[in-house]
Amino acid sequence: MEHINIYSGKKAISRIVTSDSIKGLGACLEPFRSIFAVIDKNIPVNVQLMEILKAKNVRIKYIVPSEEDKTLETVMNICSWLLENGADRDTMILAVGGGITTDMAGFAACIYKRGVRFGYVPTTLLSQVDAAIGGKTGVNFEKYKNILGIIRQPAFTYICSQLLESLPKRDFLSGAAELLKTFMIEDNGNYQKAADLFFDIQSEFHLEVMMYGKDEKTQWRELLKKHRKTLTGLIAAAASIKAGVVSRDQFEKGERRKLNLGHTFAHAIETLAQRENQRGLCAQNESSTLPAEEQHFPSGVTHGEAVAMGLVLAARLADRYYRNDRNETTALESKISNDFWDCDIPCYCPYSIEEMAETMKKDKKAEGGKVHFVLPKSIGEVETVELTVEEVCRLMK
Ligand SMILES: NC(=O)c1ccc[n+]([C@@H]2O[C@H](COP(=O)([O-])OP(=O)(O)OC[C@H]3O[C@@H](n4cnc5c(N)ncnc54)[C@H](O)[C@@H]3O)[C@@H](O)[C@H]2O)c1
Repeated sequence: MEHINIYSGKKAISRIVTSDSIKGLGACLEPFRSIFAVIDKNIPVNVQLMEILKAKNVRIKYIVPSEEDKTLETVMNICSWLLENGADRDTMILAVGGGITTDMAGFAACIYKRGVRFGYVPTTLLSQVDAAIGGKTGVNFEKYKNILGIIRQPAFTYICSQLLESLPKRDFLSGAAELLKTFMIEDNGNYQKAADLFFDIQSEFHLEVMMYGKDEKTQWRELLKKHRKTLTGLIAAAASIKAGVVSRDQFEKGERRKLNLGHTFAHAIETLAQRENQRGLCAQNESSTLPAEEQHFPSGVTHGEAVAMGLVLAARLADRYYRNDRNETTALESKISNDFWDCDIPCYCPYSIEEMAETMKKDKKAEGGKVHFVLPKSIGEVETVELTVEEVCRLMK
């Protein structure tokens, strides 16, 4: 078990505990008298977790997370439930789930009775290394992702790698992309260690499923269990990097921006994919079909997949910006795209830079016509530069 703190000045304001077992959660809940939990309904029942919650008389509300329902309305539903059940100012809200659940329950905790304490048990790899650390809470509004929200630190984040074993492969790999992103920012040898681990898991999975015909779900679960210890170490290393950055720049005035590596491109990709998807749905309603070649992502794109694509594009932009390297595929770009392919993380972006340009201009991180682009100089070293979208288009052509 490892303890990591997030600081404001010299004061520890949030504690992160990493472990390969759920047992230690009881100690985190100990100081709280009245606990209300918001739990992702898709998580298989974990007997140990339920016993810990029962021992503390925790009241539970289940939600089914989706980006469409990551709204103020769902947050209001959580607040109504708290009110109906007599939650007072001394209440602690516990969120158990992926990034959607922690973002929404955290936001509800920030506004309920002008703010009550909250804690997280993240259950996806993405939320364990990213969403549940750093205090960003919020919901989608109109067409914009996470545009309404508050930055406030949870009392604790209890990260248990055991909970990941029920995670579908695609969701796991989505988090793997964020983990690799973190080590592209600060390495200490962890980038290669993580890439090697995901490659091993992937190769063993293919061997057992393709060659020996084993059941995919069972095999995936067993492999995550087998590699639990290495994974726990890497998650703790990534959590520690993010905690360090957040301690130095909680409100994203400077250094914290570097955590957005790959994200300006990723948000544009997610927006374009969502638009295509909506056009597909409209076409279906009109009982005509959208031509297959127009649908780049018929089964959608996960945040981590978009981040992987964004990282490859950021590497290309960096090579062109720093070295004026105009080769079709540049050195850093080919290293990371090979690593992503080896781990079975899709990283080829089907959209042109012109298609992404309009969306990038509207990114909530754009300021005064310029966008903060985080450029990877090498694995473990990044720099934030301000560029106009036009400059980026010129460099990327
Ligand atoms: N607050 C932040 O700093 C921050 C950072 C990054 C991302 N985010 C947000 O996080 C969200 C994405 O997070 P996510 O990828 O965790 O998505 P998610 O919460 O939708 O979880 C992904 C899927 O996995 C399921 N699931 C969760 N845990 C499971 C488990 N242990 N076993 C089986 N299934 C499980 C969920 O029900 C869901 O279907 C986005 O809304 C994004 O905006 C927030």
